[in-house]
Amino acid sequence: MEILKRWKNKSGSNNVTDKINEAKRNPIPEHIAIIMDGNGRWAKKRSLPRIAGHHEGMKVVKKITKLASQLGVKTLTVYAFSTENWKRPQTEVEFLMKLPQEFLGTFLPELIEENVKVQMMGEKEALPQHTLNSVEKAITETSQNTGMILNFALNYGSRAEILHAMKKVLIDAKSGIIDENQVNEELFSSYLMTDGLKDPDLLIRTSGEIRLSNFMLWQLAYTEFWFTDVYWPDFSEEHLLEAITDFQKRSRRYGGV
Ligand code: FPP
Repeated sequence: MEILKRWKNKSGSNNVTDKINEAKRNPIPEHIAIIMDGNGRWAKKRSLPRIAGHHEGMKVVKKITKLASQLGVKTLTVYAFSTENWKRPQTEVEFLMKLPQEFLGTFLPELIEENVKVQMMGEKEALPQHTLNSVEKAITETSQNTGMILNFALNYGSRAEILHAMKKVLIDAKSGIIDENQVNEELFSSYLMTDGLKDPDLLIRTSGEIRLSNFMLWQLAYTEFWFTDVYWPDFSEEHLLEAITDFQKRSRRYGGV
């Protein structure tokens, strides 16, 4: 396996290899969602501007995407920008809006090689044109890929998503496309931005904050949560493997016994 060879050569150690092998002995979570938090504090600790933390965080997304894909994860959802993040200073927002361009500009060939399919969930209308163009280009160029879905939550907020879905359900009910009696969890899910995706099996949040911050509130109903104090720019392959092996030890009962 290509990634194993590279690791052995680079580190001279089998630590990560062992952890990959350990994780692969049990079912890998099909959908992992990540709240990538702590970029600002990571930068502050180093007396760097906050944007330096975001830039470092972007590099970590590359590493984690590659590992997740090679482990056989089917969907990786990353919270890159929330509907509340517009409240940040303009320079920071502008930087964050340029990150998808840099990420995809430098990483798209590897994503294509890795057979990764890029998707996005969030309100597209409010995104700057340059951000939307780069994301849409990646979505188009990877649309035929059959491997892992890399789902960017960009200008995403879960309450807005649910409200929007509810309005669409009402409109469709009113116009007779659907009947009120048909509205069940499955149908409602199909009105959400995650239509077609399995609900996350594992949610990871970095930086020591233990909250959901308006992220996938409907979809996370039965998800296993894994929190770490590590700031996102320090999140490593080992951390992902640790989260996965911890997940594998849990017993998921979905309200049953
Ligand atoms: C939260 O940290 C992080 C964000 C709001 C942005 C997340 C973006 C990245 C990790 C970059 C990846 C982007 C792409 C397009 C791949 P924070 O700024 O809230 O940190 P703090 O809580 O320490 O201030």
